[in-house]
Amino acid sequence: MVNPHAIVGDIVELEVDAIVNAANNSLLGGGGVDGAIHRAAGPELLEACRTLGGCETGQAKITPGYRLPAKYVIHTVGPIWSGGQQGEPALLRDCYRNVLALASAHRILSIAFPAISTGAYGYPLEGATRIAVGEATDFVASHRMDVIFACFDETTKAVYEEELARL
Ligand code: AR6
Repeated sequence: MVNPHAIVGDIVELEVDAIVNAANNSLLGGGGVDGAIHRAAGPELLEACRTLGGCETGQAKITPGYRLPAKYVIHTVGPIWSGGQQGEPALLRDCYRNVLALASAHRILSIAFPAISTGAYGYPLEGATRIAVGEATDFVASHRMDVIFACFDETTKAVYEEELARL
């Protein structure tokens, strides 16, 4: 299979070693994909997150997946878009790099990402996708890991496919 690749689907249903959560600095849950992951994983996930002491923007922390088919959840916090001059691209790049490094350290062989920051945090989808695809492509060139982009809808997937086709 082409690696990385994009699919349409609910990330909580994926049978992969790890799914990535687009969380906030508290790591104590929220809406969007964060809410969906906490609902599907069950209350044990929130209990585990409470012990982590939050997470800085661009950093990543790992927990078990509890009731999810995925073994692990890697929580990262994307930047809130505020025009692009506040370091947002570098912070979003950090999210992908730190998640992939943490995954590698845990011998994770398959991982699914949501479109971090592109929902409630307002990061423009095209720019975010360029970073996501670029970082994942660089990473898989030197690591044995399948990277999946779990897109919530066909429109998002089309943007990913366009970017993937560019490479
Ligand atoms: N599977 C895959 N993608 C999803 C799912 C799902 N089940 N649900 C939503 N998306 P967002 P952010 C897509 O807002 O922008 C939370 O409240 C969604 O369509 O979840 O990083 C956190 O606690 C969009 O494309 O994350 C933070 O406070 C993408 O996931 C804040 O939102 C990301 O949208 C983080 O905002």
